[in-house]
Order: sequence, then C-alpha cells, then structure tokens
Amino acid sequence: MVHKNAVLNADPSPAQMTKISIIGAGGHAKVAIDVAVAANGSDAIEGVYDEDAKMCGRTFCGHVVQPARGIPPNALAFAAVGDNGARKGVVDRRPHLVWATLAHPSAVVAKSAQIGPGALICAGCVVQPGAVVAAHCVLNTKSSLDHDSTLADFVHLGPGCTVCGHVKVGEGAFVGAGSVVKDRVHVEAWCVVGCGAAVVEDVGAGSVVAGVPARLLRPRV
Ligand SMILES: CC(C)(COP(=O)(O)OP(=O)(O)OC[C@H]1O[C@@H](n2cnc3c(N)ncnc32)[C@H](O)[C@@H]1OP(=O)(O)O)[C@@H](O)C(=O)NCCC(=O)NCCS
Repeated sequence: MVHKNAVLNADPSPAQMTKISIIGAGGHAKVAIDVAVAANGSDAIEGVYDEDAKMCGRTFCGHVVQPARGIPPNALAFAAVGDNGARKGVVDRRPHLVWATLAHPSAVVAKSAQIGPGALICAGCVVQPGAVVAAHCVLNTKSSLDHDSTLADFVHLGPGCTVCGHVKVGEGAFVGAGSVVKDRVHVEAWCVVGCGAAVVEDVGAGSVVAGVPARLLRPRV
C-alpha cells in the first residue's frame, strides 16, 4: 500500500492516536525518533516499546521503554528496527496497527513521488519524481532514489547510497552504504549489496554481492 507523499497519516479517524508509538529501542530507533521530532515537534512521541524484555524499563531518548504488549490498539505506530527481516516480523505480528510515515524536514521528496506507510526518509535524502517507496522502507542518511525507481516493501537503502533512475529493488533487499545502483538495474528480493559496491547488472533474488563492479559473494543464508 502506498500513500502519495504521506509525511504522516494525514487524516486519522477520531479514535486514532496522532502521536507516534515507536517499536524498537536501538540505534535505528534513535534516528527514527530524531526524524519524528524534527518533523512533528518535541511531543511527537507517544511512547517507546520493545519486544525484548531486557530493553524494558530503561530510559531511551527520554522515554521509559515499555513492553510491546502495551502498545495501544489505536496507536499510530512506527517499526523502528533497521534489519529488514526483523522489521517485517514486527509489522506482520501487528496487522491491526496504523503505521506512520516519517520524513526529515531536510529530505527533498518530489511531489510525484509516492511514499508508503511505515517508511523512514532520513536527513539529507532525495527522492525524485515518479519514484515509489513502498511500505516500511528505510532511506538512510543522505541516500537518494532517482526518477521512476521503485522500492518494494521493507527495502533499506544504506547511508549515502545512490540508486539511479528506473531501478527496481525487490522486497527486503538491503543496499549497503555508499553503493551505487546503475540505471534500469533490477536488484531482486532479499539481496544484500555490500557497502561501496557498484551494481551494474541485475542481482538475483537472495544474493549477497559486493565490489566494483559488484560480484556474487555468496547466497544469503
Ligand atoms: C557485503 C557484506 C554483507 C559481506 O559480509 P560477509 O558475508 O560477512 O563477508 P566477510 O566480511 O566474511 O567478507 C568476505 C569477503 O568479501 C570481502 N568483502 C566484504 N564486504 C565487502 C565489500 N563491501 N566490498 C568488497 N569486498 C567485500 C571481504 O574482504 C572478504 O574478502 P576475502 O574473502 O578476499 O578475504 C558486508 O561486508 C557489507 O558490506 N555489509 C554492508 C554494510 C553496510 O552498508 N552497513 C550500513 C548499515 S546502515
């Protein structure tokens, strides 16, 4: 499901919370909270929750971490987990929740770009016209997605990565920091592209590739 330029769910029902319940209390959550506060103000966060009992009770970014079972049923939630598979698990276990979309004010998102629920667009990112960012994607710090390119659900573009035009990236793929994906290339589902790679040809599903030009390292386990 894709919302057109939804920076936050714009039209919540009366019962729907408007503050954001963050799920996750690690480094990625720290960034997500910073983006939420930069975009929506210092009281943007309803609470921080974690599925790991060991994390609960700690103070994290000014919030006491609560058990995930305490997430309000009408929460406007955000899955703040960097690993794509783990993030998908957090989302799949909560089909009833409404998911916020977060974009840092310094990100440049073209009017014709589409950004899905649960996506995180970090500081300094650029999303160009006709690009599609599906649900629960991460565009990490200063990454860019060029015109007419499509990210399927749960993709993560690492910091500083450059995805050129007409690229397709399949569900759950991770594109490493500082890598470049050549125009019109297809990176299939659940691939991992190593940091600093130059991806100049299609990458088969579930492959780990790295280098310049990128070559197969191994299948993803
Ligand atoms: C590609 C990657 C997943 C491989 O991890 P791995 O399977 O554990 O691989 P290893 O570290 O065992 O290295 C295996 C070989 O690949 C090489 N290699 C690893 N990563 C590489 C990379 N990014 N570019 C080029 N070569 C790389 C290693 O030097 C090693 O070579 P050798 O066999 O000649 O000694 C990982 O190195 C990587 O780049 N991850 C992305 C990190 C990132 O972008 N983080 C951002 C977080 S937001």
